Amino acid sequence: MKKQFIAGNWKMNLTMNDAKDLARRLCNEAVNSDAVDVGVFPAFVFLRDICEILHTSKVYVGAQNMYMEKSGAFTGEVSGAMLRDVGCTHVIIGHSERRTIFQETNAMINSKIKAALSCGLSPILCVGERQEERDAGKTSEVIGNQLTEGLAGLTSEQIKELTIAYEPVWAIGTGNTATPEQANEVHAFIRNILESKHGNDTAQCIRIQYGGSVNSKNANELLGQPEIDGALVGGASLDPKSFLDIVYEAVRLS
Ligand code: PGA
Repeated sequence: MKKQFIAGNWKMNLTMNDAKDLARRLCNEAVNSDAVDVGVFPAFVFLRDICEILHTSKVYVGAQNMYMEKSGAFTGEVSGAMLRDVGCTHVIIGHSERRTIFQETNAMINSKIKAALSCGLSPILCVGERQEERDAGKTSEVIGNQLTEGLAGLTSEQIKELTIAYEPVWAIGTGNTATPEQANEVHAFIRNILESKHGNDTAQCIRIQYGGSVNSKNANELLGQPEIDGALVGGASLDPKSFLDIVYEAVRLS
């Protein structure tokens, strides 16, 4: 069993004070267990402060997005080097909200992953199908394309730096969590694709998180699945108790 990776995607939520309180709470708790990796992904403007609070802990801090260019006239964007500069180690790439609201394509996501890796950030690549795609029996096709195009041109060594998050779009923020069996099945499919393209060694060392309405009640069953190596948690990561309950569930299962 791999070490589970529990990540909190704070999205466009919290005030600066609330974000700092949440980070202090995580810092003071026993999140420093070696049994589990924990990360938080605050809004850009909070990153520096949250990195300062958490730098003595083992909690990773990452951004929810980045731009693929190094610098220049890209008003409103943030580069990977800037994220490193403030202390980030990770970055979420290709979240479904970026794909749907901000029209990010697999090609853009591929460029962002390459840019992140080139400046030493570990990307979490998000993939997932929409409800109508699942209903039309296209889950494998959609996820296969997101992976193939998203990871195009990367070496196996680079791919080993990644985490993949399977986040069915219909499960995000809806309370309609995928069943543990549904999630496990897609995770196994993702690992098979990685194995066929990059070999068993690469496929086995990549962690595949599940995301989509994970909470303290369903975490045990989801994280207990053989192919699920962690969770990308949205809503439930904003409340310290519910996020920590998920973290402790992962520790218990380790
Ligand atoms: P949720 O969000 O846990 O609120 O469903 C997950 C995500 O979007 O990463």
